[in-house]
Amino acid sequence: MRQNHLIMTLFGATGDLASRKLYPALYQLYAKNLLSNEFALIGTGRRDWSQDHFRDVVRHSIQPCDPSEKLLEEFLTHFYYLQADIESVQDYAALKSLISQLEATYHSQGNRVFYISLAPTLFATITHHLKEQALLSESGYNRLIIEKPFGYDQESARKLQHQLERSFEEEQIYRIDHYLGKSIVNQILPIRFHNPILKALWQREMIDHIQISLNESLGVEGRGAYYETSGVSRDMIQNHALQLVTLLTLDEPDTLSAQAIRQAKIQILKNLRLANGSQDLVRGQYGPSVNGKEKGYLQEDGVAPDSQVETFMAVKVFIDLPEWQNVPIYLRSGKALKDKKTDIKIIFQSPDPDLPANYLQFELAPDPKIRLRLNQMDSTQRREFKDLPLSYQVDSRLAKRLPKDYEKLLYDCFQGDLNNFAHFLEVDYAWQFIDQIHQLWQQEATPLYPYPAQSQGPQAADDLLRRDNRQWIQE
Ligand code: BG6
Repeated sequence: MRQNHLIMTLFGATGDLASRKLYPALYQLYAKNLLSNEFALIGTGRRDWSQDHFRDVVRHSIQPCDPSEKLLEEFLTHFYYLQADIESVQDYAALKSLISQLEATYHSQGNRVFYISLAPTLFATITHHLKEQALLSESGYNRLIIEKPFGYDQESARKLQHQLERSFEEEQIYRIDHYLGKSIVNQILPIRFHNPILKALWQREMIDHIQISLNESLGVEGRGAYYETSGVSRDMIQNHALQLVTLLTLDEPDTLSAQAIRQAKIQILKNLRLANGSQDLVRGQYGPSVNGKEKGYLQEDGVAPDSQVETFMAVKVFIDLPEWQNVPIYLRSGKALKDKKTDIKIIFQSPDPDLPANYLQFELAPDPKIRLRLNQMDSTQRREFKDLPLSYQVDSRLAKRLPKDYEKLLYDCFQGDLNNFAHFLEVDYAWQFIDQIHQLWQQEATPLYPYPAQSQGPQAADDLLRRDNRQWIQE
């Protein structure tokens, strides 16, 4: 069942992402017969690597997949290296001729994928040259894959889009948000739309509120310089958290086509509203851990000694659409917290205040699962409620076989399926929302709450819910 005839050019082939994610993902697709023998990858980079060295790097990166030696050797023959400077017209000419040569060898039908795994400041230079030096195919498809961040704010995102649009149509641009490749995330829409009982419950009269937590235990891990330009608002909320919000709240379209889903998501993002301005907004920054073993954000490499960048944020959001009126969505995300926990909880209304609320949980990490929290009675004491958790946990053997995020997203791109990639307008409205937050932070000297590394984050994030007589559900 091998399919997907294509030549993929990877800018940034010597980088960390390529080795950690992309080569293993491509190998998995190949091993599952989802990548054709009519496929080749041209890795480009500034380093003076030989083809053999490149193939060794790829071989090494695939070891964690426990590859079959024979298949791996066969797979590696599809990899080619070209030393190239992204500013050099000559190097684009060399790339063009290598692509043509490989197209003849691999019968890839003129299908070309260009993956830029380099700093976003370089996107426009590359796409400009791809078009100007005629590297875009005239016989097959052209697809561009880019990593986040897409801009720094709404204005820079628009500028970048404008530059990319000179070479690629919107439908040819695949913006990676790796959360959209996670298997539990891919179940949100099917679970919402294909279960009549949940459909009946999925409405503002039944849902009390939604909680989304993207809590990380690691600090900025050597990425201080990047993080200084980003903070958690741009690094996690603008993209991953808001994409989850759209999947949980979008109106069911008539068809589940990428176009319809993207339109429905745009509708949500366009109508996001901060509940009560800066009152419902908390930001924090981690300091050294209480035991002194973990450093604070200000001690990280590349971080200014007086940095005001937030490593934690919690916010209460509303969607200004009749379907979601008065249903708050609480988002929080932070670095250097006690536990890594990525999850979503849909908390249903509970008319009896003595009755613990029912909720549906999608846990993305650390243990991917879907769980419905019901109540049962304690068998010995009357009126003592106990949790009755109905839980589906991804079987560890199955988890091994399920596509990892990049595998899923690369496959989708090769299939021309844009469903799990954000449209520019999604990005644009998400920035509009984040820009509002930054404006508030600038205008009203909002506190930057310190919290010790490896703690639960600032108390203010708990107070945000307590004021509404709610609390973060920790399970
Ligand atoms: C990335 C952020 O997009 O997501 C990182 O840039 C963050 O800072 C990572 O650590 C978290 O991803 P995951 O899949 O581990 O939740």
